[in-house]
Amino acid sequence: MKQLSQYKNYKKIAVMGGTFNAIHMGHRVAAEAVRQELDIERVIFIPTGNAPHKENDPMYNEHRYLMTVLATVTNPDFEVSRMEIDRTGKSYTIDTIKELRRKCSKECEIYFITGADAIEQILTWKDPDELLSMCRFVAVTRPGYNRTKLEKAIDTLKQKYKGNIEFLEVPALSISSTDIRNRVIADKTIKYLVPETVENYILKFGLYTTEYSQAPYINDINKRLHNVLTPKRFRHTQGVAEEAVRLAQRYNGDIDKAYLAGLLHDCAKCYTDEEKLRMCEEYNVPLDKILKKQPDLAHSFLGAALAKAEYGIKDEDIINAICYHTTGRADMSLLEKIIYIADYIEPNRESFPGLEKIRELAYTDIDKAVEYALHNTIDYNKEKNRIIHPLSITALEYYREENNEK
Ligand SMILES: [Fe+2]
Ligand SMILES: [Fe+2]
Repeated sequence: MKQLSQYKNYKKIAVMGGTFNAIHMGHRVAAEAVRQELDIERVIFIPTGNAPHKENDPMYNEHRYLMTVLATVTNPDFEVSRMEIDRTGKSYTIDTIKELRRKCSKECEIYFITGADAIEQILTWKDPDELLSMCRFVAVTRPGYNRTKLEKAIDTLKQKYKGNIEFLEVPALSISSTDIRNRVIADKTIKYLVPETVENYILKFGLYTTEYSQAPYINDINKRLHNVLTPKRFRHTQGVAEEAVRLAQRYNGDIDKAYLAGLLHDCAKCYTDEEKLRMCEEYNVPLDKILKKQPDLAHSFLGAALAKAEYGIKDEDIINAICYHTTGRADMSLLEKIIYIADYIEPNRESFPGLEKIRELAYTDIDKAVEYALHNTIDYNKEKNRIIHPLSITALEYYREENNEK
């Protein structure tokens, strides 16, 4: 019988990192394929702990950990580590690799198995050069994955950081954890997509259908926003979400999207300027000169990146509505206009010159409301000696012309 965690004796181990929410057949197939292909002695599944910027939820961590145990228990070459789950504070990959390095012999080669998409992100991780020098990466891809974009990133990693990265195609990776959760929510079967034990676990604890179902998903977002926003800002976002729903009803827009975009539009607002700049770098948000000088203005662009990476928003329209809610832009979608205006007129807004006029226009002609609001903002910022973002200027020109032609 194999012993658990004889790290000192291993010559070659692989780390399989992931949230494993839920762990599925794709994960197991990928880990087994890498094990065999690279002659790995032990694959260590390490469910992520408190990912940077994610709140801690012990119950959620335990579910993911236990599902990972259930999914791997029958394979003698697999084991699960609580290393990240039990770590207090934020959890970074570099800390995990360092911890493994300490446990293993000097000669031991450590591989880190990750999705191909994550490879592009490595440079945004903590201490990428040190990380690349301490372990080798195995990028698992599904067949047909477009490698062109990826190859550029890989070249940089290889040349600049002497990173060691290899690819492995794994057919079963078309299964995704998001699909598993969505199928459970939609009451569709997940049989054969996840191990039977995991399926039973999900059903037993009502994962994704009770505490993780659609409405609680909103609750989850609200809970997180409550933690990262000031009470006043939190009230404001509730007001924007509700106003956005009213506007969506008025203009036959998508009510759910309006609500979500309204809720999340200021999710990056309450960080300090310094934090905003650092996070923009971390999340690859490009900053022009104006944004660098006025980091607060970057909260909308950063908010869009956070909505995508941290709040799981995939819909581009929602992302854009968050992205352009402060500057506006020419030719906005209905949702973008709704959020732009809702931000202006939500009921908790303290009165300012022009507010009542925009409130009135908002429900009669949203394009005119947008023009008026842009005009108002530009004037206000000029008075305050702030630089006006070019996006706002072109937006105003656009809507002026648009409304004149009506
Ligand atoms: Fe904002
Ligand atoms: Fe706002």
